[in-house]
Amino acid sequence: MKDQGGRNKMAQDSIFAGRLKKHEQELKEKYRELYQAEEGYEKLLSIMKDFYRKRSEELKTLDKKREANPLWYRESSMLGMTMYPKLFAGGLKGLIKKLDYLSEQKITYLHLMPLLKMPYPYNDGGYAVEDFRCVDPRIGTNRDLTILTGELRKRGISLCLDMVMNHTADTHEWAMRAKAGEQEYIDRYQCYDTFDIPAEFEKTMPQVFPTTAPGNFTWCEEMKKHVLTTFYPYQWDLNYKNPVVFNEMMANILFLANMGVEVLRIDAVPYIWKELGTSCRNLPQVHTIVRMMRMILEVVCPAVILKGEVVMAPRELPPYFGTPDKPECHILYGSSTMVNLWAALASRDARLLKHQMDVIHSLPDNCYFVNYLRCHDDIGWGLDEDQERILSIDPLSHKEYLYHFFEGVFPGSFARGELYNYDPVSKDARSCGTTASLCGVEKGGFENDKEQVEAGIRRILLMHAACMSLEGFLMLSSGDEIGQVNDYSYKENPDIAADSRYLHRSSFNWENAGLRTCEGTVQYKVWEGLKELEKVRRENVCFGTAAQVTTWDTCAMPVFAIRRTVQTDELVCLANFSENWQHAKLPTLFGEYEDIFTKEKVDLQQVTLAPYQYRWCARI
Ligand code: GLC
Repeated sequence: MKDQGGRNKMAQDSIFAGRLKKHEQELKEKYRELYQAEEGYEKLLSIMKDFYRKRSEELKTLDKKREANPLWYRESSMLGMTMYPKLFAGGLKGLIKKLDYLSEQKITYLHLMPLLKMPYPYNDGGYAVEDFRCVDPRIGTNRDLTILTGELRKRGISLCLDMVMNHTADTHEWAMRAKAGEQEYIDRYQCYDTFDIPAEFEKTMPQVFPTTAPGNFTWCEEMKKHVLTTFYPYQWDLNYKNPVVFNEMMANILFLANMGVEVLRIDAVPYIWKELGTSCRNLPQVHTIVRMMRMILEVVCPAVILKGEVVMAPRELPPYFGTPDKPECHILYGSSTMVNLWAALASRDARLLKHQMDVIHSLPDNCYFVNYLRCHDDIGWGLDEDQERILSIDPLSHKEYLYHFFEGVFPGSFARGELYNYDPVSKDARSCGTTASLCGVEKGGFENDKEQVEAGIRRILLMHAACMSLEGFLMLSSGDEIGQVNDYSYKENPDIAADSRYLHRSSFNWENAGLRTCEGTVQYKVWEGLKELEKVRRENVCFGTAAQVTTWDTCAMPVFAIRRTVQTDELVCLANFSENWQHAKLPTLFGEYEDIFTKEKVDLQQVTLAPYQYRWCARI
């Protein structure tokens, strides 16, 4: 007779085998599509099995729970926050001590910005990874990370970490060995002896950082070769045509999963496959890889989900979800939605935002987006140009208006921000700044103008209310909950002075956070305002997964309307993106409505909104 341990092991192995059976044929086919390498596939299977065996019982229990409730991340109780652990609390140890602050806000999902070992001083905010299996010593240790994930799980907070897929730091062991001339490692990157092939690539490959890192190749003196570096010169693009790279990167992903990471943000994923004569973005092979990742996770650690960072035109997004039968990512960043929210605020015009949401609502059910206002990156003004033309808006002129507005130089602008990667040839530029600064709190404070500050607070809450009214996963940016403003000190640090994204990557101000309980302060007003919105979002049935969500015409350009219904329950969320009073008319058919914040009765046939007012109106 087998002992208990032996029986458990057999039961576990049969769980793995059962999951693998479901995917094996497709996984094998997909692998062959890219690699035709039998040996590589067998190696991948042994990696998967190995990580499955090493996965803790606690995580395996979570796997089962999530398999029974695969849409857990869509529940309205989910509330995300993104932050740099170092800036928030000095590192992982500090963060562990500050978890009560997150629980106070009922955060259920925490995206920690890159914390794996990175080179100094140049690391692109941690997106140049030196070791995918080791926490950066300046941020913490692997032990801290394991303790943190355990603590977070106890509080019902899922940890999200970045998986930087496209590149490694040029100080990663593979790059070092490539520089030392080891062919096996040279083959893990895309290296060329002459500039002939790079020149061909340059003809069709756009640039990601045209100002801060022009060109897509970097000369490596040690190797005497040109290396493909889509992002910064010290970020070497991996060669996914090499099955060893794919297998090793999958092993790295599974390593993080076994440390308790529940959401993998797959960084810059559209860029991972390159072909001459193409833009080297969104190629079909990228989808083959993401689909394989999804299957690998479903076999080894189904609790873990994929969040794709796909900052691309809206039409490029749906393929990243795959199909209901063959899914890829679980969620994607809603970067276009975010851009449209900011454009609506500057232009006092919600029409493009409405169109964007109509496009999102027309997508199949498997498409689900992260809604957010700010993250660690810039705001890239990728609006829907065709739709702009339909509305007689000149795309380039509108873009110039937007980035100058948020730079604070357009007459009448309330914003304080900076340009990012201004390209004098194409006139393209993006914008940086915190929510509070872009909304006017900084300018008002600086000018000691109470009224401006109040208007800034109203804009912060309006932007959050509009963002929260949308269908999708809500993610806040740490510091926004207390109206934290820009930090200009990065300009004094020559290593990062050229990268204006550091304007909104500053240390969390704990002193100001203390003011959240002092009535009358900016911090109090923002904190309480967000709390009120979040509570409704958590508790109102119209925010549940069953809700039907549509936009509505308002007959007023600056007024945006979202209608949420669940059977007979209905909530109409209105947002006035202008500094003027607005009178809107909604095509409501029946019923009376009540503004759940002011408790006023509202006639949606003729509804008045104060400057920057948002009303969430429930049918009574
Ligand atoms: C992603 C990150 C960005 C980084 C880039 C390169 O876009 O969000 O911050 O610069 O990837 O890794």
